[in-house]
Amino acid sequence: MSTAPLPANADPTPGPNHVAIIMDGNGRWAKARGLPRVAGHRRGADAVRRVVRGAGELGIPVLTLFAFSTENWTRPADEVNDLMGLLRHYLRNELDELRRNGARLRVIGNREGLASDIVRDISDAESLTRGNSRIDVNICINYGARAEILQAIRSLARQVEAGELSSDRIDEDRFESALLTSGVPDPDLLIRTSGEQRISNFMLWQCAYAELVFVDTLWPDFGKEHLEQAIAEFRRRERRYGGVGG
Ligand code: FPP
Repeated sequence: MSTAPLPANADPTPGPNHVAIIMDGNGRWAKARGLPRVAGHRRGADAVRRVVRGAGELGIPVLTLFAFSTENWTRPADEVNDLMGLLRHYLRNELDELRRNGARLRVIGNREGLASDIVRDISDAESLTRGNSRIDVNICINYGARAEILQAIRSLARQVEAGELSSDRIDEDRFESALLTSGVPDPDLLIRTSGEQRISNFMLWQCAYAELVFVDTLWPDFGKEHLEQAIAEFRRRERRYGGVGG
């Protein structure tokens, strides 16, 4: 390990390894301007591009964005179509930008409920970005934590029923490997925009020890500087993981 002194402006406190963001406030952003909700979602997609780039520049190894929840299907059909259209557009047209950022894309969520062309776009985008290694970008689409936990339990229960797994061998690692996020480190910083202070069925298992940072900025206005502020807040927190600290 290098013992060279840190540059005077370097921050010795480790930053987050995995930043997850609940992107919220697109509708309010549009409403405040007398625009249709889709205009807020479009500007939200611009913010996604900015934040992916900013996270790469800030050296964040893993970024996860909550784009569409299992509950979002209850929105009016037009809005659901608009959101699916934006996701399609992103998966088809952002590949060069993702490559420039060295971003490896992974989509997390239940693909069964998605249109077949989106499922194909997801597989293509994942394989075309597989070789990128600067930042892992996970986009949650048709994702809900309770559904994820239930499918993990079912899959483990099937292995027990089949005699392939003994129930006392189900530990945290085994459970983690049955989740949709298998192999992804737990988020250590969870940001929610727009002033709402809820988890909304997002990565309930994985966020067990995440620092929660709620910011008032609406998602379409969010950018690299807001990300930096949230990381500064993370660095100020003392993380104890249930212990007493140092
Ligand atoms: C929450 O705002 C935002 C969403 C439900 C969708 C997030 C989608 C995007 C940012 C755009 C597409 C994503 C990608 C990855 C290209 P809201 O509509 O709930 O806002 P409100 O609470 O103000 O009504």
